[in-house]
Amino acid sequence: MLGFRQLMLNIAVISHKGGSGKTALAANLAGAFAAGGSSVLAVDVDPQGGLTAALGVEPGKPTLYEVINSYARPEEASRPTAVPGITLLPADFDLAGAELELPLRGRWHDALRRAISHYAALHDMTILDTPPGLGVLSFAALSAADAAVIACPPEFMAYRALTQVLRTAHRTGVTVLGIVPTLSHRTTRLAAEVLDQLYKDYPQLVLPAIPRRVAVQEAALAGLPLAVYAPRSDAGLAFAILAKEVTHRVQSSDSKRPARARA
Ligand SMILES: Nc1ncnc2c1ncn2[C@@H]1O[C@H](COP(=O)(O)OP(=O)(O)OP(=O)(O)O)[C@@H](O)[C@H]1O
Ligand SMILES: [Mg+2]
Repeated sequence: MLGFRQLMLNIAVISHKGGSGKTALAANLAGAFAAGGSSVLAVDVDPQGGLTAALGVEPGKPTLYEVINSYARPEEASRPTAVPGITLLPADFDLAGAELELPLRGRWHDALRRAISHYAALHDMTILDTPPGLGVLSFAALSAADAAVIACPPEFMAYRALTQVLRTAHRTGVTVLGIVPTLSHRTTRLAAEVLDQLYKDYPQLVLPAIPRRVAVQEAALAGLPLAVYAPRSDAGLAFAILAKEVTHRVQSSDSKRPARARA
């Protein structure tokens, strides 16, 4: 048990760069929390539908697009997954339309939060996967979240974008729980240098790293989180350690918030 039951937390997984390991992070954090006994709502806020695939769900209709537009209720769009404890709000390519349509609406920043908040509150926690970049959908996901986790692979461009990602996250008022070194390895000098710089510049923010391992790709292809697919693998253990540390940071940031904000 990871102790989330009283916290009611919504976490968005974000990065500036595509292919940063966000979806792997979202699927496997969901898996680790579910393995710890939490009920998790996984929300795919990416028209690529990566989280939907990684959790082994065929999107069908309705999806998150219909929910954001109030054509369907989240209860109607949500699907069970093969993992007890994880329910998914799936996405398909239609969600790309929301990127254009949402800004034409009043209070669009808040549209996703308003559409899912009641349903999300029925779960112990919500994990939102976002598209690459900091566009409309990522902003809407951050606005629907209480906290954010940033995925950062050991690549210079990803590292360089961190200041922008942090600024955007802070603008939406979320608590940044930390930066996860994703796809982590030191097999090239550049990767090692980027990791060293990351630990040097953000010593308080860096969360436990996720190693680059083929098991992560195999689990995604199988439509299962590592907590089910290969819990004792290197990467499976790394996600479990990460989930524990995220829990710890949530609990300490929650205790620092004023009681009114927690209510
Ligand atoms: N720790 C890891 N080890 C090995 N492969 C990984 C790891 N994490 C992610 N991958 C693989 O790297 C690729 C990109 O990962 P992922 O889809 O999670 O990134 P993303 O940030 O969600 O990408 P996008 O921005 O396109 O949504 C995928 O093929 C995924 O299976
Ligand atoms: Mg993705």
